[in-house]
Amino acid sequence: MAYTEFRDFNMEHQWLPFTPNRSFKKDPRVFVAADGVHFTTHDGKQVLDGISSLWCVAAGHNRKPINEAIKKQLDTLDYATAFQASNDQAFKAAEMIAAMAPGDLNKVLFCNSGSEAADTSLKVALAYHRARGEGHRNVFIGRERGYHGVGFGGMSVGGIPANRKVYGAALLPRVDHMRFIHDPVNQAYINGVEPVWQEDLLLELENRILPLHDPSNVAAVIVEPVAGSTGWYLPPQGYLRRLREICDKHGILLIFDEVITGFGRMGVNFGADYYGVVPDMLNFAKAVTNGVIPLGGVICSDRIYDSMMQANAGAPEHAIEFFHGYTYSGHPVACAAAIATLNLFKEEQLFQRAGDMGKVLGDALHSGFKGLPNVVGIRSLGLAGAVELSPIAGSPGKRAYDIFIDCFHNGVLVRPAAENIVVCPPYIIEKAHIERIVSVVADAIRKNA
Ligand SMILES: Cc1ncc(COP(=O)(O)O)c(C=O)c1O
Repeated sequence: MAYTEFRDFNMEHQWLPFTPNRSFKKDPRVFVAADGVHFTTHDGKQVLDGISSLWCVAAGHNRKPINEAIKKQLDTLDYATAFQASNDQAFKAAEMIAAMAPGDLNKVLFCNSGSEAADTSLKVALAYHRARGEGHRNVFIGRERGYHGVGFGGMSVGGIPANRKVYGAALLPRVDHMRFIHDPVNQAYINGVEPVWQEDLLLELENRILPLHDPSNVAAVIVEPVAGSTGWYLPPQGYLRRLREICDKHGILLIFDEVITGFGRMGVNFGADYYGVVPDMLNFAKAVTNGVIPLGGVICSDRIYDSMMQANAGAPEHAIEFFHGYTYSGHPVACAAAIATLNLFKEEQLFQRAGDMGKVLGDALHSGFKGLPNVVGIRSLGLAGAVELSPIAGSPGKRAYDIFIDCFHNGVLVRPAAENIVVCPPYIIEKAHIERIVSVVADAIRKNA
C-alpha cells in the first residue's frame, strides 16, 4: 500500500488527549504501522519509539505471540460479562500476576487503565477501613508531582498542578501531599544508583502532615516508587522502606502506583522488588499487555481481601462484599493478551534485558548530554532516564516541547515532561538504537539552546 494513501484522513473530529490540538493539526504526527522499535508515519517516515509508546510496548511492537493469542481468543470467547460470572482467561491472568507480585499481594481486581487502578485502590482503602470499623480513616496522602491518572480520585492524590488547577472544589477534600523527591543542587546527576540524601525527607510526613490530620484518620499513602510521568525522579535511598515503616506504625495502607515501574522497567518484576518494599496494594496497567489491549488492575494483599470477606461473614450468601467493578474488568481478550505478554517476557528474559540495557542507556545519556547547553540534570535507573533542561523564562515546558518536536522530525520519539526529555525504550532495544536516540536528542538540545 502506498503511504500516500494514509494522508487521506480528516482531523476535524478527534479531540486529542494531553496534546496541543491547534499546533498538532498544523504539523500532525500520525502513525499507521509499527514493528519492533519503529513506527511508520502517515507520510512514510520511520520513527524510533524511544518511549515504548508511553511505557507500554515493553516487548516491542507487533509481537506475534501476543497477536496470535488475541486472534485465538476472539474466535473462542470474545467477551463475557464480568459481574456475577467470569471467564477462564481472567482467572489465569490473575494467577500469573499474583505469582509475580511480592509478599502477600495475591488478589487482583482488574480494570482497564492506570486511572481506574488509582481510583479502585483508593476505594478499596476506604472500604477496607470501614469493614474493620475504622470508617473515619478517610484522609489520603499523595506526593507533589505524583501522577495517578485523570479520574477524580487519582487527580486529587496526584500532584501535577496543570492537571488539577481547573477542578477546584471538585477534587477530593481530605487529601494532603508530601514534598517532592528532588534535590536539584546535590542530586542533579544520578546514574543507576539510589541517591543518598543528607536530609530525611519523611520527617515532614511524621512531624507535620500526620499530626495535622491525626494518623488515626489517614486511610492510605499513595506513591509511584519512581516518579515517572513528571520526569523520572528517583526516591532517596531508604525512602520507600521508611515510608512502609511509618505506614505500619499508624495502620495506614501503602499503595504503590506501578503503572510505569511494573513489569520489568526496573530490571525486575516490580519497583517493589527493586526497592525490597511490599505495599498493601500495587496498581498496574500499560506493559501488562504490552499496551496492545487496555488492561489495568490493583493487586491487593490477602489481608485486605480477607478482612473484606470476614466483614461480610454474617451477611446473606447473595450479598456483594465490594460494590465496585467495570463492565470490562477482566475482559477475556485483554487477559489473553496479558497471559501471552507475561509468557513472552519470561521466554525472552526481557526483564533481565531491561536491567542490562538500562546500564547502557544510563551511560549513554550521561556521556551524551552532560555539559550540553541548558542541561541541568540527568537521571537514569532501570531502562529509563531523563535529561532536565533549564526552562525558557516565561515559557515553562517550551524548551522540552521544542526538542521533542525536533527529535520527531528527525525520526526519534521521546517524551517531554515538564522541563525534561524522558527516554524509556522497549526492552528489546539495542545499543545502536540507544546511540541514535542520544545523538538525535543531543542535536535537538544544541539547536534549541
Ligand atoms: C503512575 C501512573 N499512574 C496512572 C497512570 C494513568 O494511566 P492511564 O493513562 O492508563 O489511565 C499513569 C499514566 O501514565 C501513570 O504513569
